[in-house]
Amino acid sequence: MDNRNNLILLGFMGTGKSAVGRRVAALAGAPFLEMDAELERRAGKSISRIFAEDGEAAFRDMESRLAEEWGQKEGAVISCGGGVVLREENLRALGANGLLVCLTARPDVILERTSRSKKRPLLAGEDPEKKIRDLLELRAPLYAKIPVQIDTSDAAPEELAGRLLDLWKKQA
Ligand code: S3P
Repeated sequence: MDNRNNLILLGFMGTGKSAVGRRVAALAGAPFLEMDAELERRAGKSISRIFAEDGEAAFRDMESRLAEEWGQKEGAVISCGGGVVLREENLRALGANGLLVCLTARPDVILERTSRSKKRPLLAGEDPEKKIRDLLELRAPLYAKIPVQIDTSDAAPEELAGRLLDLWKKQA
């Protein structure tokens, strides 16, 4: 596909950004870029260790630097960490050359999906269900600002990828 715009996937943890993003990229023959994986590569350690050893503020600064950098890419599918919406400057940088799409899911679906991995420091420890509800409530206004919203709760990643590819093509 000849599309120089990026497709930027945002949304809460467990909404399918990576699963769906990887598939859209494959369908489009476009590069797939994942912020969390890149931040781990650059730091030489896991996100959990970055949070534990350097603190969340340091993680957010690294994330913003990467958003600024990847805002300059062309024709890529970029899967963002769930907290990228916390700083408006991130959305400005990524949106400059990209279609911003927010993936959503019901809290029970998020809990089910995120409980399969221990990689998320913000949901670690006691009562992840409450943590999800509290964080979702806090961030709801931020996610809601993104004009394109897609609920991934009940659809297969393949179907969602097809829908996203259509949307992205229309922006080309
Ligand atoms: C975070 C989401 C995570 C990761 C970090 C913080 C958040 O990414 O960046 O654990 O603040 O929502 P995923 O949304 O890919 O899990």
